[in-house]
Amino acid sequence: MRQVRLSIAGLGNVGRRLLELMDSKRDVLKARYDLELRVVGACDSTGGAEYFTGLDTAQIIALKRAKKGIAAYPGGIARGEMRPVDLVRTVDADILVELTLTNLQNGEPGLTAIREALAKKMNVVTANKGPLVLAYPELSARARAHGVRLLHSATVTGGLPTLNLGLRDLGATMIEKFEGVVNGTTNYILSRMSEGQAYDQALKHAQDIGMAEADPSLDVDGWDAASKLAIVANAVLRRPTKLKDITVEGIRGVTPEQLRLATEHKKVIKLIALAERAGNDYVLSVRPTVLERSHPLSKIGAGMMGVMYHTDINGVIFAAIEEENPYPTAAAVLRDIVNAVV
Ligand SMILES: NC(=O)c1ccc[n+]([C@@H]2O[C@H](COP(=O)([O-])OP(=O)(O)OC[C@H]3O[C@@H](n4cnc5c(N)ncnc54)[C@H](OP(=O)(O)O)[C@@H]3O)[C@@H](O)[C@H]2O)c1
Repeated sequence: MRQVRLSIAGLGNVGRRLLELMDSKRDVLKARYDLELRVVGACDSTGGAEYFTGLDTAQIIALKRAKKGIAAYPGGIARGEMRPVDLVRTVDADILVELTLTNLQNGEPGLTAIREALAKKMNVVTANKGPLVLAYPELSARARAHGVRLLHSATVTGGLPTLNLGLRDLGATMIEKFEGVVNGTTNYILSRMSEGQAYDQALKHAQDIGMAEADPSLDVDGWDAASKLAIVANAVLRRPTKLKDITVEGIRGVTPEQLRLATEHKKVIKLIALAERAGNDYVLSVRPTVLERSHPLSKIGAGMMGVMYHTDINGVIFAAIEEENPYPTAAAVLRDIVNAVV
């Protein structure tokens, strides 16, 4: 049996679900790939724990469910001595699974940990947009130079394999246009507003059900969608892209009157992330957009995300997901772990 050692940085919504899936899918992984995954190191904001034959994942899940930090794990190590980068430096593992929070200012703590892991010839699997948005060309070049994989299919639309579709299935294709409803929170708010709710009421409801953050600005001002578009542009369109290359407008300016008028004319307003080919380049934008009801993305309701690739030889591809909790994102991380080693 092939044993693969994981170090996991970040044990929040996605990290904990990943541990649960590794448990529930243990037999499937063994039967299909003769593969056993072992967590030899893990850290969160309180510190970390390591054990070379494997940590007890049920015990970590229980700690996190009880809202405790991993530093409370028997033999746990306090924060200052077990940051994500220390996890990479001190623990011998085959894959760094990087699931800390997205930081669009400097990418930390994920960026340094990912750089260090690639330099150490470890494969990296991440759901964290920050490091990729800030340093995609550098990180992918490092992975190539060291002969390891950098897989991040969960960074764009969670469980929906938007990046895999573009990378794996459109190899010889020219993508004329990419468009997507890629941010769940704004889609939820606009969907509820078009049913008559006020913006504040729809936002509060999204916060109450855990969909929107207490500070919703990354979502409602369009930066989360722009981050995903930047990753699609870098990875799939092969266009080195930073956030400053994207025209970004969020949904704060969308009025109930605009939504009412759109509904009256049998149209909808969605926050659309768009990359449109112009000559040898792409024009990139995120903005509220009026769609005809015949447009497939107009059907992307609350709790859903969807994307379209308009291509020269593969026709028009439309894919969508209904994702109401973090399990599909954790499943995308598990898929990347398997793909990194199988
Ligand atoms: N949730 C989703 O559905 C989803 C979908 C796609 C992508 N993502 C991305 O996946 C990543 C994880 O998301 P999430 O929802 O699991 O976030 P989360 O619940 O906020 O968890 C973040 C984890 O990072 C840890 N952390 C924060 N600062 C740290 C530091 N300085 N050093 C070490 N660990 C630190 C936190 O520690 P504590 O546990 O101690 O607080 C927590 O375990 C994010 O980058 C997010 O953007 C999430």
